[in-house]
Amino acid sequence: MSHSILEGKKGIIFGALDDQSIAWKTAESVKNEGGEFVLTNAPVAMRMGAINELAEKTGSIVIPADATQIDDLENLIDKSMSHLNGKLDFVLHSIGMSVNVRKGRHYTDLNHDWMTKGWDVSAVSFHKLMQVLYKKDAMNPWGSIVALSYVAAQRTFPNYNDMADNKAYLESIARSFGYFFGKEKNVRVNTISQSPTLTTAGKGVKGLDGFLNYAEQTAPLGNATAEDCANYTVMMFSDYTKRVTLQNLYNDGGFSNVGVSQEIIDALDNG
Ligand SMILES: NC(=O)c1ccc[n+]([C@@H]2O[C@H](COP(=O)([O-])OP(=O)(O)OC[C@H]3O[C@@H](n4cnc5c(N)ncnc54)[C@H](O)[C@@H]3O)[C@@H](O)[C@H]2O)c1
Repeated sequence: MSHSILEGKKGIIFGALDDQSIAWKTAESVKNEGGEFVLTNAPVAMRMGAINELAEKTGSIVIPADATQIDDLENLIDKSMSHLNGKLDFVLHSIGMSVNVRKGRHYTDLNHDWMTKGWDVSAVSFHKLMQVLYKKDAMNPWGSIVALSYVAAQRTFPNYNDMADNKAYLESIARSFGYFFGKEKNVRVNTISQSPTLTTAGKGVKGLDGFLNYAEQTAPLGNATAEDCANYTVMMFSDYTKRVTLQNLYNDGGFSNVGVSQEIIDALDNG
């Protein structure tokens, strides 16, 4: 399916690690809709090499950047505008990492240095990215910036750990910076709150299979896939959503508004 709704649009896509990554699927969908972009990821992620495959497939280049480093972001944005011959129409922030989740530290026993590191990578990097874009006046009017979130920002999921707090902070940054980006530059900023998805970041969450099944049985439309998320992001980058901003948009099959589904009641009903 292609309607060329991103024809002539240019941007940057963060976070494609392998072909399961939501950013990978998004790059494919954006390309399919006529968009042009630069791919980026942390220098350590380059070692895996898979991103070069995606670059070849989508006719893009890769510029490494650690999203917590202002110098890296400045270099990335300068080089991207020069490569794409102009300002940007879209940016996807698809970045998340918690050292506490990786190392299996319980929420009641967090290492706070690790917590700070995860917060910087998963949330503050979004502010750093937008501040560099804003100061360089790198976005075209009616451009669109999207970051990916999860419903643990609003509701408690025990094993999501400190990532829940990072997502709450990320969503708040989207609203706070989105105000100024809207007022001063006519640029929209939103977060998409995605269903649990089997990716490298997703698999780090303890008990992900149980999580996935629970969400699948709760959501009337079932879990949104990475491809569904990619398509939603394409729509958010297109001119069809010009005045949608400061929103946290659920792409979750309806999960976030369900109390309980009949399937879950039946599974728990011993009588
Ligand atoms: N998988 C899920 O269940 C799920 C659900 C909702 C939201 N999300 C969010 O979607 C986004 C993408 O995650 P994914 O599931 O595709 O997993 P993923 O592991 O494929 O992507 C995470 C990316 O973050 C990058 N990254 C980490 N540190 C970085 C840094 N310092 N600078 C630049 N990049 C860095 C990684 O290299 C990787 O490419 C994340 O924000 C994640 O929290 C995921």
